[in-house]
Amino acid sequence: MIFDITILPGFDKNGCKEQYTYIKLKAGDTVSIVGPTGSGKTALISDIELLAQGDTSTKRRIFVNGEVPSDEIRFNPAMKPIVMITQNTKCFADLTTEEFLQIHARARKIYDKQVIQKTIDLANNFTGEKIKKDTRVTVLSGGQTRSLLIADAIMVGASPIILLDEIENAGIFKQEVVNLIHKAGKMVVFVTHDPVIALLTKTRIIMENGAVKKVLYQNEPEIRAAQSLLELDKKIGTIREELRAGKSITFDLPAVNYA
Ligand SMILES: Nc1ncnc2c1ncn2[C@@H]1O[C@H](COP(=O)(O)OP(=O)(O)O)[C@@H](O)[C@H]1O
Ligand SMILES: [Mg+2]
Repeated sequence: MIFDITILPGFDKNGCKEQYTYIKLKAGDTVSIVGPTGSGKTALISDIELLAQGDTSTKRRIFVNGEVPSDEIRFNPAMKPIVMITQNTKCFADLTTEEFLQIHARARKIYDKQVIQKTIDLANNFTGEKIKKDTRVTVLSGGQTRSLLIADAIMVGASPIILLDEIENAGIFKQEVVNLIHKAGKMVVFVTHDPVIALLTKTRIIMENGAVKKVLYQNEPEIRAAQSLLELDKKIGTIREELRAGKSITFDLPAVNYA
């Protein structure tokens, strides 16, 4: 069982020590990592993925439940408590989506027959291009692949920690992903440029020059701002679908209230 992970400071790109004592992330936490391109977001999330022990470019160390993780946890893929999904994550197996999920569910000893369809339905909530159960995983688009793997990590996977490196596509991955992962009791860390995701997470890590600059916690106005942006997002989605379907817009959208 993983209760928490602790990030211990390393060094920024100039070799100066990072200015925090430690950062503790707990099961069920929703976290975003923000900062300009090149500021070290992927390096930080990779440190977590690798359970780094001073052996990466940042020299950070990651503890699990307050201790140095065992080699078994670090290097045995079956024991690894972490799943990371990036823009480049692909499914290589020559299987249909249904077979792919069945094999994973069987390996995880999940006997709920509905879980396959539930996972595909969930993935289809995240992506505009619908996945069918007989679609081969090798021909899924990047967006479909990421949607399927995130749904799989939530519904089938055992990993308590899910790391997502800039996976947002227009219109998907919003409140629902954050809520579902949170409800599943998993920890999720988003590297993101999406203001909605950044506002929806409880903890926000700000990166600069390869170092953690600040850690911020979601406040009340930010929760309201996230809601306003979500309403706006929905409207953009509605209009996008209408336009995609070749229609004219013949209705007025209600005004957004940025309370
Ligand atoms: N603390 C650090 N010390 C040395 N190199 C770093 C550090 N953090 C990041 N880098 C390097 O800087 C480059 C950009 O970092 P990256 O994590 O890819 O940025 P981002 O994901 O924010 O765009 C990478 O080559 C990475 O290995
Ligand atoms: Mg990156």
